[in-house]
Amino acid sequence: MNIENIRKQFPILKRQINDNSLVYFDNGATTQKPDYVIDAITNFYSNYNANIHRSVYTLGNEAENIYIDSKRAVKNFINARFDEEIIYGSGTTELLNLVANMLEQELTVDDEIILSSLEHHANFIPWQQLAKRKKLKLKILEVNKDGFISLNELENSITDKTKIVSLTYASNILGILNDVEKIGQIIRKKNKDLYYVIDAAQAAPHIKIDVQKIDCDFLAFSAHKMCGPTGIGVLYGKKKLLERINPVKYGGGMISIVNDKDSSWAELPNKFEAGTPLLAQAAGLKAAIEYINNIGLENIEIYTKELTRYLLSKLKEIEGLTIYGCHDVSKRVSLVAFNLENVHPHDLASFLDARGICIRAGHQCTQPLLNRLEVFSVARVSLYFYNTKDEIDIFIQTLKETKEFFNNELF
Ligand SMILES: Cc1ncc(COP(=O)(O)O)c(C=O)c1O
Repeated sequence: MNIENIRKQFPILKRQINDNSLVYFDNGATTQKPDYVIDAITNFYSNYNANIHRSVYTLGNEAENIYIDSKRAVKNFINARFDEEIIYGSGTTELLNLVANMLEQELTVDDEIILSSLEHHANFIPWQQLAKRKKLKLKILEVNKDGFISLNELENSITDKTKIVSLTYASNILGILNDVEKIGQIIRKKNKDLYYVIDAAQAAPHIKIDVQKIDCDFLAFSAHKMCGPTGIGVLYGKKKLLERINPVKYGGGMISIVNDKDSSWAELPNKFEAGTPLLAQAAGLKAAIEYINNIGLENIEIYTKELTRYLLSKLKEIEGLTIYGCHDVSKRVSLVAFNLENVHPHDLASFLDARGICIRAGHQCTQPLLNRLEVFSVARVSLYFYNTKDEIDIFIQTLKETKEFFNNELF
């Protein structure tokens, strides 16, 4: 991997922010886009733009082929068995809400849903509200000090009443990776009929996902966190389930026959994609997958783990700095959440911004976890393959200056 060359392919990395070179460390929120992806979107609008589904002219058919190719690229990216198992929506949040709404028809009073305290609000609130609506029991698995759920506790929590287990693949605060394959085996052993749902928003940019090995029923992620455009995400669903479940969004493109009294549904996956599909976004997502495949997810993983190892070692040298989650980089993705004594994360982020460094600060959409950590807010650095050790050095130096500034202010 030639990082210098790679960096040249991301136009935004040439930017100056507040008279400093941009140091972009907020990749967990969204990643930057290479020319390859930007060009694919421009190319779609410049040369192929037309609506699809039942188009009877060449341009529409060409646009449809791009959409179909995009789905095929996603199918291969996550090793799904069938093209029809790939559904597009606006992102992980929308798609996890979609799964919750789809599964509502399968649930009755007293059924149980299992989540963990690690979940992003996108994989927490849809289930919490579903549980309230349908009078279901919500069980929340606690995590240990490193951030891992106990697989024994998970096994013991699953009963005949458990209908859904929905867990994150990688935590957006602690960075830890759940052993989703092992969890899949436990789930199938205990209760074959329950739905296993995975929020892969923070995993898809970093590690090879294999939905057949995991044996999950649904899995969602967002293109914008892996060099793709905003406004498109992927929902994988097992074909035999998608065939059985009724759609929950209605309109054009998702029907077979409509009369005054009733409607019947289109074949998969159109049944779950009401309205004009995400066409230009699909072209961008396809390009993002090609771009990432070209670099190689294994290379991305090796490089970003090395960066994370370096970042952790430098952070550990700073007195009064608390790092959340396990320090073993083999068990985590490349993001690190922390707090610096006497400095509010928002103050820290503003100070860093003045030097052109972007990090995230706040509750990071994980209030249930932060309640357990007994903090209101954390700072988070999240790295991707175009970041460098030099950037980490700049960040660490500025962090030290911030600490000094606030300590002098206070005492
Ligand atoms: C673990 C996790 N799940 C879900 C989401 C929501 O993703 P999106 O905002 O793309 O819908 C995020 C976003 O940060 C996330 O980190």
